[in-house]
Amino acid sequence: MLRIAVLVSGGGTNLQAIIDSIADGRIKDTQIVKVISNKADAYALKRAEENGIASEAVVRKDFLDKEAFHEALIRAVDEAQPDLVVLAGFLVVLPLKMIEKYRGRIINIHPSLIPSFCGNGFYGLKVHEAALARGVKVTGATVHFVDEGTDTGPIIAQKAVEVQEGDTAEILQKRVMEQAEWIILPGVINDIACGKIQLK
Ligand code: GAR
Repeated sequence: MLRIAVLVSGGGTNLQAIIDSIADGRIKDTQIVKVISNKADAYALKRAEENGIASEAVVRKDFLDKEAFHEALIRAVDEAQPDLVVLAGFLVVLPLKMIEKYRGRIINIHPSLIPSFCGNGFYGLKVHEAALARGVKVTGATVHFVDEGTDTGPIIAQKAVEVQEGDTAEILQKRVMEQAEWIILPGVINDIACGKIQLK
C-alpha cells in the first residue's frame, strides 16, 4: 500500500480527483494518510474532513520565523510517514531539507507544459493569464518530481489542452484541470503505486 501525503493551499480539486480515483480503482493500492495545508481556511481541508482523512494546517503566521514554519511543515509530513508526497496546488516553496529528505518521493502538478510558463511567480491563474497573453494555441499540464529548483525537476507526464477563442484565464484553467490535471496526476500516482515509475 502506497502511503501518500497531499499538500494543498486552496480549493483542492486535484485532491478530490485523487480521492475519487482511489475510490473507483483508477489508483490502486494507495491510501491518503494526511492532507496538509498552509491555509487554515483552504476548502481542500473540508474535502479531507468529509472523506475521513487526517488533516493539519501549518500556517506561516503562526510561527516566529520561516525556519520554525519549515520545521513544523517537515514535522507534519514526517508524522504521516508517507511513501510519496504529492503537491496538489501547494503554493509554498518547499524547505531544502524536505527536498533532500524526500528526494524522488515528492511530485508536483503544474498547470502548463513545462518549460513554458513555469518557475518563480507562475502559479494558479497567473499561469493561464501568461499563456493567453503570449497567444499560445496549446497549453496543458505537467507532473514532475520535485528538486531544488522551481518546476525544474524531471518530468513524469504531460498532457496538452487546446486554447480556444474567447478563453478567459478562468475558462482555460478549468479546461486544463478537466482535460489534463485531474487525469495525469491520478495516473502518475497509480503508476508509482504499481512500481512503474521511479526516480533514478
Ligand atoms: C492547480 O491548477 C495546480 O496545477 C496549480 O494550482 C491549482 C490548484 O487547484 N498549481 C500550481 O500552479 C503550482 N505551481 P486545486 O486546489 O483545485 O487542486
